Amino acid sequence: MEKADIGLYGLAVMGSNLALNIAEKGYRVAVSNRTASKIDEFVAGAGDLAGQLVPNADLGAFVASIKRPRSIIIMVKAGKPVDLTIQALLPHLEKGDAIIEAGNANYRDSVRRYDELTPKGIGFLGIGVSGGEEGARHGPSIMVGGSREQWHNAEKVLTDIAAKYDGEPCCAYLGPGGAGHFVKTIHNGIEYADMQMIAEIYGIMRDGMGMSPLACAEVFKSWNAGPLSSYLIEITGLVLEAVDEKTGKPLVELILDKAGQKGTGRWSAIAAQELGVAATTIEGAVAARSLSAIKEQRVAASAIYDSVPVEKCSATLEQLEHALLAGKIAAYAQGFAVLSKASEENGWDLPLGTIARIWRAGCIIRSRFLDQMASSYEKDDAVNLMVAPDFVRIMEANNGALRRVVADGALAGSPMPCLGAALAYFDGYRQAQGTANLIQGQRDFFGAHGFILTDREGEQHGDWPPTLETD
Ligand code: ATR
Repeated sequence: MEKADIGLYGLAVMGSNLALNIAEKGYRVAVSNRTASKIDEFVAGAGDLAGQLVPNADLGAFVASIKRPRSIIIMVKAGKPVDLTIQALLPHLEKGDAIIEAGNANYRDSVRRYDELTPKGIGFLGIGVSGGEEGARHGPSIMVGGSREQWHNAEKVLTDIAAKYDGEPCCAYLGPGGAGHFVKTIHNGIEYADMQMIAEIYGIMRDGMGMSPLACAEVFKSWNAGPLSSYLIEITGLVLEAVDEKTGKPLVELILDKAGQKGTGRWSAIAAQELGVAATTIEGAVAARSLSAIKEQRVAASAIYDSVPVEKCSATLEQLEHALLAGKIAAYAQGFAVLSKASEENGWDLPLGTIARIWRAGCIIRSRFLDQMASSYEKDDAVNLMVAPDFVRIMEANNGALRRVVADGALAGSPMPCLGAALAYFDGYRQAQGTANLIQGQRDFFGAHGFILTDREGEQHGDWPPTLETD
């Protein structure tokens, strides 16, 4: 039997769709899964593409059915199952073969797996795959990290199955070790911030302006033709106009306001903290989901604070659109700042422009705006998006609206953890004289941590007076 071009192990939702995508592009795919019955079910449901599949329940036969050097994608449940699968495959692999881990891995696990497999002569690629089930089937954004040599063996297949933006594949090698999964993690952090900022704007439309879901939907649909044009704005319009068949009510009003999270957004906030990078808009989005989860406490507190006065919102719809654009730039600036610092710390040499390019299609945060961002990183080599000339112009034109909307949100009692953090980031980032001089004075007072004086060399200490005893 003719050997397969590539192998794929793990035939749950994402794995099955990825295998069909590969087969559709004309490749022969060896497929396997822990539970053998799922292999048969998968092949039976593959229709015309079944002829491109090489099924095998036995791991040895599965590996042997793939052309050398082998590229084997594993798409199993994240965590221990990935390590167990790698262990089970290892005895059947030969030097030069590669494991391509495509699940939702923590990047630290990818670093470890890369470090464990490299000395054995087995390549390890950790790839972030974004775009959900639909993306996996018809073209995801693929963020590749790991062994560069083995990347070249799989490059053609992976770029062929990736989403295309103006004909360019949204798939690229980004760096060694855990670089691919790290970039995917930050993608998800930005996704959280993007979604939360949209929800905050919806909140002010609903609570501060008294707009119906349908009226909000119309506004989001019109925004999708402008600078905010993106997948998330498009689906927001569609979610807001959906009607519940049973009651005839707007579906969004019946959906419980408790947001779920699988962890990658949280990982991005943790990474930002660990790297010492200000990513408050992303952190705000993670915290907002946590606050949403304690519904019962929120209901009780709303009764206690029933009499807090709130004001109507005076911002215009145009200001809301502009505020969202400014907030979005701050969120992306933060995400890219985390990528930049991680790249420096890990020696990854992450290509920021390329990352923006491969996010233009296939993934959840895909948008027109990323095209402009890619050019800015490539053309201007900007240290932060906030100071890239194209974005300076956008921030100049839109920061006033962000300020107006955040102020309105505060007065209307409509929480803006992300837009508020975006504004504070913008103001903090552009503040030549900050307030940390006072913090340094306080730190020296109670802990003799020292400070630098702007008019002399070396670390100094204050001659502080005694404090009143408080006990
Ligand atoms: P989904 O894509 O639907 O979100 P998932 O829960 O992330 O799926 O992963 C499920 C896949 O991981 C399945 O292929 C599952 O194999 P089974 O069909 O045999 O359940 C696989 N999986 C889970 N634990 C595994 C393990 N310990 N060893 C090998 N494969 C495992």
